[in-house]
Amino acid sequence: METETAVKGRRSIRRFKPKPVPEEIVRDIVNTARWSPSWGNTQPWELYVVTGEALERFKKANRRKCLHGEAPASDIAMPEVWPETLKKRYVEVGKKVLTSLSISREDVEARNEYYGEMFALFGAPCMILVCLSKSLHMEYAMLDVGLLMQTVCLLAHDRGLGTCILAGSVRYPGLLRELLSIPEDRVVVIGTAMGYPDWAAPVNHFERERAELDEFVTWVS
Ligand SMILES: Cc1cc2nc3c(=O)[nH]c(=O)nc-3n(C[C@H](O)[C@H](O)[C@H](O)COP(=O)(O)O)c2cc1C
Repeated sequence: METETAVKGRRSIRRFKPKPVPEEIVRDIVNTARWSPSWGNTQPWELYVVTGEALERFKKANRRKCLHGEAPASDIAMPEVWPETLKKRYVEVGKKVLTSLSISREDVEARNEYYGEMFALFGAPCMILVCLSKSLHMEYAMLDVGLLMQTVCLLAHDRGLGTCILAGSVRYPGLLRELLSIPEDRVVVIGTAMGYPDWAAPVNHFERERAELDEFVTWVS
């Protein structure tokens, strides 16, 4: 796939088919993604590829915690306030998701059911979880993780797979620590759901938006 086609064609998938992803395909994706750049080639990322029974247990428990309103305890603090323009974009994508699912703003039950789905990784049969050592200079290591995850997402897209980077996957890191035996001196950074997209689901089709260049580029010569 052309790079430009891959970059523009990748989108966050929010409904997956249950069909498992063959391990050799995930291995191939990760094997290529390890060529992502990182600060001084330090490659700080530590990955867990979670599938099968372990993932099912996680999805069930993560969904339960969300629906029971358990207070989030992410290792990486989640943003709660944004400058107005950014907040508008955040609200807008949320609206688009719910509209595509025919969920009205007032329908609290349906909205909660959707959040439960999100915490169950939208039915994905695979999750790639990234951890970092707590000893690292976190800001730069996070840049490295971002580069790796985008590379994983593009490679997955190239292979007909869908992905969704999910803050919702790491809201209860204690769950992941216990299930995956993640040591206490590691930061649970982010999980990415991966699987075959359910293209029949409208939530995988709504039109996405991006700011125009003039809104974020300063040209200097
Ligand atoms: C760090 C990060 C965390 C995200 N967490 C979530 C999430 O918890 N739930 C969700 O539905 N999408 C999540 N997303 C996906 C974004 O909403 C999505 O990337 C954005 O709306 C742009 O859309 P696109 O990926 O389809 O181009 C996350 C993306 C990133 C980069």
